[in-house]
Amino acid sequence: MYSSRITGMGFYVPDNIVTNDDLSKMMDTNDEWIQERTGIQERRWIKEGSDDTTSTMGVKASKIAIERAGLTKDDIDFIIFATLSPDHFFPGSGVLIQDMLDMPNVGALDVRNQCSGFVYSLSIADQFIKTGMYKNILVIGSEYHSGALDKTTRGRNLAVLFGDGAGAAVLSRSEDNSRGILSTHLHSQGEHAEVLTVKAPSIIHWIPAILNAKEEDTSYHPFMDGQKVFKNAIVRFSEAISEGLDANNLTAEDIDMFIPHQANLRITQFVQRRFKLSDDQVYSNIQKYGNTTAASIPIAMCEAWEQGKIKEGDLVVIAAFGSGFTWGSVVIRW
Ligand code: UT7
Repeated sequence: MYSSRITGMGFYVPDNIVTNDDLSKMMDTNDEWIQERTGIQERRWIKEGSDDTTSTMGVKASKIAIERAGLTKDDIDFIIFATLSPDHFFPGSGVLIQDMLDMPNVGALDVRNQCSGFVYSLSIADQFIKTGMYKNILVIGSEYHSGALDKTTRGRNLAVLFGDGAGAAVLSRSEDNSRGILSTHLHSQGEHAEVLTVKAPSIIHWIPAILNAKEEDTSYHPFMDGQKVFKNAIVRFSEAISEGLDANNLTAEDIDMFIPHQANLRITQFVQRRFKLSDDQVYSNIQKYGNTTAASIPIAMCEAWEQGKIKEGDLVVIAAFGSGFTWGSVVIRW
């Protein structure tokens, strides 16, 4: 059987930096609250009038990833695109990327698993490669959150958390079974679907409902029961990591780099303490980009790699938890 290796990575974030002080001019919040509760100092938000969208950011990240893999667009056999903020209700953004990258007739699949979207996408790509169906798969996570956030005091518990950006990786077939993705582990618990959600627009809340919506109707903005999400996140992150380590007869001491979904620095620090990981074993960049949902892991993984923090032969563990609830992990021998 083949194994799949990450051969190239890239990321793109909009130039526009929004600091916590900038937010305090839009809503009743402050730098101290945001940093203390989340670790976030700033995030990138697409500037009004910019050409950036979920799909164009994904294209920019993809071009870098494909080039770094030493490939051209013609070598890519399949596209997997993870997002909760697609350009359109349908079709998905994967086909828009396929067109913009000029990859005629290459299959494109959208994955709608929110913060776990990139973990799910890597797992799907891994199966296609291991079975021999595809050789090189482009896996993308991209989010344009700032367009849908309620940037008033009413929406402050969510608006301060999220940032825009995209990350991409090329997963390629390898004959060396000791390297690459060792295992992936995916879970969900739909009974908590309403704890972190945007209800509209949707087929249930279609145009007449949107047009008649009253100012106090919050269905059109993301909703989150933050404490419930937090409490579940620390449990599920830990379970997913343990599951990945156990499946490969490894322990936390074997981890060279843990890359969590960047949801909240406090969640990451909890997991770090739980597994007794040193600062060198964990990568965090939520301070600069906020929570970019499906894009957060590929952006963090790419940055860590660019900084020389992921080397050949390293054991890299990634894990995510988010809306759905969905969660999972991937164990990689780099
Ligand atoms: O990526 C998807 C997964 N998402 C997560 O994992 C997020 C998990 N949850 C969290 O990270 C945290 O729950 C938050 C950072 C969202 C919130 O932190 P918290 O410590 O749970 O705060 P809270 O929601 O309990 O709110 C505490 C207080 C409230 O005021 P009162 O009722 O105590 O007077 C809020 O109204 O903080 C207030 N508050 C704010 N104050 C200033 C909420 N948002 C803000 C804000 N600025 N932006």
